[in-house]
Amino acid sequence: MTDRTAKLTSHDGSSADLTVLSGTHGPDCVDVRGMNKSTGLFTYDPGFATTASCKSSITFIDGGEGILLYRGYPIEQLAERSTYLEVCYLLMYGELPTPEQSESFNSIITQHTMVHENVRNFIAGFRYDAHPMAMLVGTVGALSSFYHDSLDINNPKHREISAHRLIAKMPTIASYIHKHSLGQPFMYPQNELSYVENFTQMMFAVPAENFTPNPTAVKALELILILHADHEQNASTSTVRLAGSSGANPFASIAAGVASLWGPAHGGANEAVMNMLDDILHSGETIERTIERAKDKNDPFRLMGFGHRVYKNFDPRATLIQKMCHDLLDELGGDQPLFELAMELEKATLADPYFIERKLYPNVDFYSGIILRALGIPMSMFTVMFAMARTVGWISHWIESHEDPEGRIGRPQQIYTGPARRDYPA
Ligand code: ACO
Repeated sequence: MTDRTAKLTSHDGSSADLTVLSGTHGPDCVDVRGMNKSTGLFTYDPGFATTASCKSSITFIDGGEGILLYRGYPIEQLAERSTYLEVCYLLMYGELPTPEQSESFNSIITQHTMVHENVRNFIAGFRYDAHPMAMLVGTVGALSSFYHDSLDINNPKHREISAHRLIAKMPTIASYIHKHSLGQPFMYPQNELSYVENFTQMMFAVPAENFTPNPTAVKALELILILHADHEQNASTSTVRLAGSSGANPFASIAAGVASLWGPAHGGANEAVMNMLDDILHSGETIERTIERAKDKNDPFRLMGFGHRVYKNFDPRATLIQKMCHDLLDELGGDQPLFELAMELEKATLADPYFIERKLYPNVDFYSGIILRALGIPMSMFTVMFAMARTVGWISHWIESHEDPEGRIGRPQQIYTGPARRDYPA
């Protein structure tokens, strides 16, 4: 992979010749594995911001250039030409499917969309007013108690079946959670519909009426799912890998990812964006005051939907999603004033030196909430939608980590700052 080395010399004169590793794209990385043995030193890197935790061939991001590739394909091309299930196949297997592979994959996923009847009962047992993410994290973890015929993590076939089950069952579970919150009957999947059409049917149909999926809504949802399908080693994916590194089963590992995604700094951001925009629109808050608060270091408030750990130029997903907002709101109506306000806020921040100097641009969450609201999806379900889309990314990383000959249990070091050794008082 490389013929370069970096020399590290410790304060006590001991040194290590460290190999420099290169990938297909992206910055080189110093392989620090031998460092502790030669020098006794560890590395300190809170948030792992300068640490590569694994080798991965799934997704590449160039944050400076605003590039996102799934298995080498630019997100813009996939968003224009692919379906979500094609993207799932690509992420899982590494190549775009042939027409025959696509047909077979669609059929496998379709055959797995139903859940065990007791999963329905399990969801029905939650309080009706539980947060949908609370129900999701519990239900995904519980899947391992229903599908334990394929939990041998060392068996590639079992890993594949679990992946198919997760991709297929997530929309069913998400829609049952929604229906449970509403007190409406759960709708069974319908196999003649596409993956996304079927999801809209399970979410919005009721047994008393015929339901025809709206093509514009299906297209918008397909885009949202494609854009959120994977994002390399983000917090939830790293959580899935870390949980899986101990040998935890796929459902338990993905449940850990769902829990991590729930946080407002990660998957919960689009909900926070909508609250912020609603405040400006309906509670007398102004764009100017909101921006001033975001810049004030004594105020913990941050402009939600702005900034990204990796994208420091623009988020290519935000560009695609902003365009979809125009198309969708033109056709379905939706919250036009909210969208106009979002664009006004974006314009104001992009001209503000605070945001320019810190390279803070709208991220995908800034506009995704507007689309989800226009589709009739309640705010409390936004992160569930994200989890549904990201399941394929999580499980692809989980599989990759199990195929990695260098894979081992994740166990970071620490700098201990507690009391020095002391004796129990006599
Ligand atoms: N509003 C105001 N200031 C901000 C914002 C923001 N949204 N984001 C970053 N900054 C400022 C920080 O205060 C810091 O300023 P300083 O240099 O004067 O101290 C500087 O920009 C760098 O910020 P960091 O916190 O170091 O950036 P980091 O990469 O750690 O954080 C994060 C990224 C968490 C996304 C952050 O930008 C944020 O909180 N944004 C709002 C929440 C959000 O939209 N999250 C969604 C992320 S995308 C996703 O998960 C799909």
